[in-house]
Amino acid sequence: MESSHIAVLVEKARAAAEHAYAKYSGFRVGAALLCGDGTIVTGYNIENRSFSLTVCAERAALFTALTIGKSDFKAIAVVGLDADEPLPPCGACRQVLTEFMAPDSPVHLSCKSGEVTSVSLGDLLPMDSLQDLKRY
Ligand code: THU
Repeated sequence: MESSHIAVLVEKARAAAEHAYAKYSGFRVGAALLCGDGTIVTGYNIENRSFSLTVCAERAALFTALTIGKSDFKAIAVVGLDADEPLPPCGACRQVLTEFMAPDSPVHLSCKSGEVTSVSLGDLLPMDSLQDLKRY
């Protein structure tokens, strides 16, 4: 991905994080998903007083995008607005993202300072049962 496109995606994720419903953790996260048609769909973490019902920013973005008919996802940016280091998705989100995105999809991670680290989804979830074992 071109660096200017990465910067746009990261900025959209950062802007989404500003709206996070994170009243219990105070840890605001935003995600921005680049769809096959070039549009960007964002999401933020939505917490609940019953903590385990919380939905992460990454899944909020993905489920929103799917619901409005988007597909063929190309890349995702994740920004932890209150994180000291570029924030990687949790294990549950890695699993869900691999259901709909190829292993070579770029995942751009950022944090409070604006530092960006880029990895692939396959790096984040190696030995995946869907892609590697061709089981499903
Ligand atoms: N969170 C995300 O939204 N994405 C991540 O990648 C890591 C964690 C949220 C869940 C919870 O609302 C808060 O961050 C603290 O864990």
